[in-house]
Amino acid sequence: MKSNIIEFEKFKLKTTKDVFFPRDDIEIFPRALKNIIKIDSKILELGTGTGAISIAIAKNFNNIKIVATDINSSALRIAKENAIINKVDKIIDFKKSNWFSKIEENKFDFIVSNPPYLSKKNSKYYTELTDPENSLYAKNNGLDDIYKIFELGVNYLNKNSYIVIEHSHNQTLTLKDHSKKYNLRLLKSEKDILGFNRVSIFSNSV
Ligand SMILES: C[S@@+](CC[C@H](N)C(=O)[O-])C[C@H]1O[C@@H](n2cnc3c(N)ncnc32)[C@H](O)[C@@H]1O
Repeated sequence: MKSNIIEFEKFKLKTTKDVFFPRDDIEIFPRALKNIIKIDSKILELGTGTGAISIAIAKNFNNIKIVATDINSSALRIAKENAIINKVDKIIDFKKSNWFSKIEENKFDFIVSNPPYLSKKNSKYYTELTDPENSLYAKNNGLDDIYKIFELGVNYLNKNSYIVIEHSHNQTLTLKDHSKKYNLRLLKSEKDILGFNRVSIFSNSV
């Protein structure tokens, strides 16, 4: 499979056509974690693609452990290569998993994810996107995978821990409302380079 290399400030990534192409604002995740991450934090990334988010986090913080998952075997292959290229392969464990299906480690301090969140109803606006379809679209107006991550994720969180999730800017209020069902609380939404809410931080702290 033909590959390309794209460069970010602190790391570079190999990409291929059969894996979601990482977007420019990947550094929004380390920014979201900056004031809340602790030494020895255990992080679970769901849907790692090329490994972009986990690698960005591993390059920004010391003394952390990450488990990074994807359902797509090609994604995991390239994510492992990228972790080696960026010398963070000792920090990140990769695992094939359908969301939480193969997650045995019981508790994490952070669950981070950029899951599929586009609505198929709007696919006519996204005809230029060449990423694999199952990396883009989710049922229920794009909300189904995020809802699953809330519902199952709370069982994998330590006390005073966080779900940090990327979403479409117009999903913020719906997610804020829905998260209450699982005793999660919206702390903050980080904005993307266009000034739109893009990554929201939810906490299970009381
Ligand atoms: C929007 S892409 C994000 C990729 C990467 N984290 C990034 O930001 O560049 C969503 C990722 O979720 C993965 N995915 C889709 N359904 C999944 C599932 N049921 N379980 C685990 N991963 C899934 C896709 O394969 C894809 O890599």
